[in-house]
Amino acid sequence: MKRSITAALWLVLLTMAVTAMAERVNISSSGGLFWSTAKEEEDLLRKADPNDDSSAASVVNERDDELDGGFSSLEGMLQWAIGHSDPVKLKETSQDVQRLSSGELKKRQLEIKTDKELMEKLKMPSDAQLMQIAIDDLNNSSLSLEDRYRALQELLILVEPIDNANDLSKLGGLAVLIRELNHPDTEVRKLSAWILGKASQNNPFVQKQILELGALMKLMKMVKSSYIEEAVKALFAVSALVRNNLAGQELFYAEAGDLMLQDLLSNSSIDIRLRRKAVFLVGDLVECQLENTYTAELPFLSNRLFLKSVVELTASTDLDLQEKALVAIKNLLQLRTTEALVLQDFCGLDAALERLRQQLEGLMLEEDHKDYAMDVETIRREVELIFHRKLYKVGTVLCRI
Ligand SMILES: *[C@@H]1O[C@H](CO)[C@@H](O)[C@H](O)[C@H]1NC(C)=O
Ligand SMILES: *[C@@H]1O[C@H](CO)[C@@H](O)[C@H](O)[C@H]1NC(C)=O
Ligand SMILES: *[C@@H]1O[C@H](CO)[C@@H](O)[C@H](O)[C@H]1NC(C)=O
Ligand SMILES: *[C@@H]1O[C@H](CO)[C@@H](O)[C@H](O)[C@H]1NC(C)=O
Repeated sequence: MKRSITAALWLVLLTMAVTAMAERVNISSSGGLFWSTAKEEEDLLRKADPNDDSSAASVVNERDDELDGGFSSLEGMLQWAIGHSDPVKLKETSQDVQRLSSGELKKRQLEIKTDKELMEKLKMPSDAQLMQIAIDDLNNSSLSLEDRYRALQELLILVEPIDNANDLSKLGGLAVLIRELNHPDTEVRKLSAWILGKASQNNPFVQKQILELGALMKLMKMVKSSYIEEAVKALFAVSALVRNNLAGQELFYAEAGDLMLQDLLSNSSIDIRLRRKAVFLVGDLVECQLENTYTAELPFLSNRLFLKSVVELTASTDLDLQEKALVAIKNLLQLRTTEALVLQDFCGLDAALERLRQQLEGLMLEEDHKDYAMDVETIRREVELIFHRKLYKVGTVLCRI
């Protein structure tokens, strides 16, 4: 792409952003969003083309919720603006700007000297205002499905900063989103679960609010959805709600969360993403048990069938799943109630670890997998060490008897 076109598009986007916002929001005197200066040109171009399939919405979709670093406010704002702009008008303006001679273009650019000055001119609406608009839209039962998706996509971005997540309840957003979990459209349900998960991630304040509104049970039911994307986001939200949250975990177990996990772990025809998330959650729940030694250890964690299904995951062909299974086993081994002999005789942990060792040895010879395989091998050795120590203890106790 040529530089001048990018500059032109930049102007278009700014123009559209201002127009779109002025139409919908009263521009406050206190201002809101901050501008970052540089932006990936390609990114902007991709988002500017209304006919392009890889528009902002689907870009958001593809991002992994666990790794998600978040959009900058600028990007979020532009996406919002594009979302609220008329695509025809956007295209026309874009063509107008492209027809400008470079002299005219320069002149226009000079009018906007610095980002700082620009920011003062624009007085962007605050994130809270943007969230309120999206929430009000969602609360409108006659909103078209397309606009509903858009409002949800906006919220998905807006709830990332912790302050915004904390505002959701106050703005009436949580109740509206939880209601959307019952929407007949699967995509709406998926996005709503995703937003609730994102907002409660590492956020005890929001976790508590969502738990009190009773959404956990609904989300756990959604994990069984035959629409796999919905199930994946629902499990993401369930994990985010119970993570490091004892009240959430109590509710989770009361709703047979242990059976849910057992089903996900033991059935190899279930989508791999669900199984990865499930075993990761197991590791997490056990870790929480280890940190809160005063709580009673949960019987299902030392159930032999349950342990066996976790050990069997190490034989998967998915390295990520294997790694997460190892971490879970490592934590499980540290529970008082986990019996080393059960892991040895009933679950065949020794053989599983040896098989894994050989597999990792092979992977280390491949340049592409070397580093990852070495990391996993480190965890595998740790597991082996803890396991043998635990077995040895049992042995000495048995000898004394
Ligand atoms: C904008 O301001 C007017 C008058 O102050 C008010 O009636 C209207 O509700 C406001 N609109 C929004 C979207 O805040
Ligand atoms: C609800 O959405 C419809 C369709 O977009 C719109 O015409 C109507 O004004 C909205 N109602 C409210 C209260 O915003
Ligand atoms: C949603 O709309 C209902 C009326 O239809 C209203 O009582 C409620 O306060 C609205 N919620 C939000 C968050 O705007
Ligand atoms: C395993 O999962 C598949 C796909 O979700 C399902 O159809 C099947 O009934 C499950 N099997 C068992 C034994 O639960």
